[in-house]
Amino acid sequence: MFTTTELLEKINRHIGGLEFTRPPRGLYEPVSYVLSLGGKRIRPLLMLMAYNLYREDVDRILSPAAGIEIYHNYTLLHDDVMDKADMRRGKPTVHKVWNENAAILSGDAMLVLAYQYVAGCSPLCLKDVLELFSQTALEICEGQQMDMEFESRLDVSEAEYLEMIRLKTSVLLACSLKMGALLGDASADDMACLYDFGVNLGMAFQLKDDLLDVYGNPDVFGKNIGGDILCNKKTYLLIKAFERADEQQRRALSFWVEADTYVPEKKIAAVRALYDEIGVKTLCESLMEEYTFRARAALLSVQVPDERKQGLAELMEKLMHREV
Ligand code: IPE
Ligand code: IPE
Ligand code: MG
Ligand code: MG
Ligand code: MG
Repeated sequence: MFTTTELLEKINRHIGGLEFTRPPRGLYEPVSYVLSLGGKRIRPLLMLMAYNLYREDVDRILSPAAGIEIYHNYTLLHDDVMDKADMRRGKPTVHKVWNENAAILSGDAMLVLAYQYVAGCSPLCLKDVLELFSQTALEICEGQQMDMEFESRLDVSEAEYLEMIRLKTSVLLACSLKMGALLGDASADDMACLYDFGVNLGMAFQLKDDLLDVYGNPDVFGKNIGGDILCNKKTYLLIKAFERADEQQRRALSFWVEADTYVPEKKIAAVRALYDEIGVKTLCESLMEEYTFRARAALLSVQVPDERKQGLAELMEKLMHREV
């Protein structure tokens, strides 16, 4: 069995060795650019870790693992246009270095490339793998659409928010784990448990992402702090702040959410101050705890000796305490 570090090195070496040099350069340069910025690579890592619960020949699935990471990076190109985000992984986003059309079209190319790499899995699993991947990719579009629609709504419920993040974020982590298990010839029960582990891990992961967007350290986070506040994203923080606000706080929150013109830094500082006053950060952290608890329970049900699952348990803890 490989250590998490060893698996991550394999992924980074494999992705680092991929070349996107065909003409036209304007199409493929953004692909190389975004992939060269790295990131945590947790989706291919989860896939390899799940596979490695069952089998040792992990190099066999580096192609589909790279496919999942390329797919994830494609969603980021489009997401950054949709979210008007200028920074990613500490560098300007593709639509800033090039332009929005480049982000759209290079993103499209990455989606196709992702399918090519995913289809490089064992032919015996191809049908199931493609079905899982396509279903997941559609769900992510659904989640992203909800995220967009929620920006202009004021009555988004906690349940709607949770369903939105399940779709836009959790299902890809779950899919990565399940795909690894599928390729590793795991039982249907284990695949379901690992999927469940991934969904719950993903919920906690997105709650943490939302927290970092407000409270992260700008020197290490790699994205602009306060982007969600400026877009009026209906995060758990904002939904809970409205729910728990007194009359005066509610009026202040509404003022900032409905304001047409404002100084961005002032809006971010004012909304963050309201979050602090109302105390929504700890609520968010408790919910994260609850999802990690559920994830741990799901992992416990995977029929593999505990010591083999320790890497996944530890990775989850690390992700919950991450700064990027
Ligand atoms: C960012 O994903 C998008 C979310 C689902 C929050 P990651 O936080 O995994 O980003 P990278 O790949 O490590 O940069
Ligand atoms: C990202 O959600 C979900 C997808 C990219 C599908 P966010 O919009 O919160 O991700 P970041 O914060 O830009 O990485
Ligand atoms: Mg975004
Ligand atoms: Mg987004
Ligand atoms: Mg975010």
